[in-house]
Amino acid sequence: MESYNAPIDLLKDKTILVSGAGDGIGKAVAKAYAQHGATVILLGRTTSKLEELYDEIVAANYPEPIIHPMDLQHASEQDFKVLGENVLEQFGKLDGILHNAARLGPRSPIQFFPYEEWMQVMQVNVNAAFALTKELLPALQAAPSASVIFTSSSVGRKGRAYWGAYAVSKFANEGLMQVLADELRQTSQIRVNSIDPGATRTNMRKDAYPAEDPNVLSTPEDRLPLYLYLMGNDSSEVTGQALKA
Ligand SMILES: NC(=O)c1ccc[n+]([C@@H]2O[C@H](COP(=O)([O-])OP(=O)(O)OC[C@H]3O[C@@H](n4cnc5c(N)ncnc54)[C@H](OP(=O)(O)O)[C@@H]3O)[C@@H](O)[C@H]2O)c1
Repeated sequence: MESYNAPIDLLKDKTILVSGAGDGIGKAVAKAYAQHGATVILLGRTTSKLEELYDEIVAANYPEPIIHPMDLQHASEQDFKVLGENVLEQFGKLDGILHNAARLGPRSPIQFFPYEEWMQVMQVNVNAAFALTKELLPALQAAPSASVIFTSSSVGRKGRAYWGAYAVSKFANEGLMQVLADELRQTSQIRVNSIDPGATRTNMRKDAYPAEDPNVLSTPEDRLPLYLYLMGNDSSEVTGQALKA
């Protein structure tokens, strides 16, 4: 999929929500979606980062994005409901969601894993992805062809010691992806897949591997072809798949 060459109008007239759009992979993908014609809803917790990306997208003459500051750690059921209603009201449909925001949490043996940190990781990585999906489904159902992408990890496909809540949360994302893909396969035009981006030069990777030389890693921009392919109509028959960038 590294060789996928997205046509520049791949996402023209589509509206796509990207969570964790302010930094790292989410930022690069949100910008690429805008570059390929989408109106992107930039959801993230640090407003200044979202504003910076907004300015970059507008300066590049891509479709004007929407900033939606939201801390997934503390968002209430009502916050998710309001977002779903607003998207439907403002755009009449939603063509895609990239669930990208995530919290790494501590690396620790399960026996010593702090309760509070476990809950926080699950809240951001699993519960918020569920709530976003649930409340945005009416808008996704109103689109002619919609794509939902969950973000996984190698430790979300094969368990690894000390990766604790993060690994388990990524397994849960794979589970949510499979359940939803199966539910929607026969009855809707919504496809649901997951991406493991692989080791990528971001702040999260630096937190996980502080001693690593970041220059040996691929950049978020290197990961774009698969993110574009899965969001555009060329992948309209692909659902229920766990893919690696
Ligand atoms: N980088 C890798 O090597 C790698 C490998 C496998 C999987 N992944 C996955 O790829 C995705 C992107 O990771 P990344 O490496 O790009 O990490 P990153 O640079 O740390 O970006 C994560 C984004 O998620 C946002 N976020 C975190 N907590 C949030 C919250 N409570 N509410 C709203 N937004 C929140 C962050 O917001 P702030 O900017 O405000 O902090 C940030 O924009 C994640 O799902 C990660 O698990 C990454």
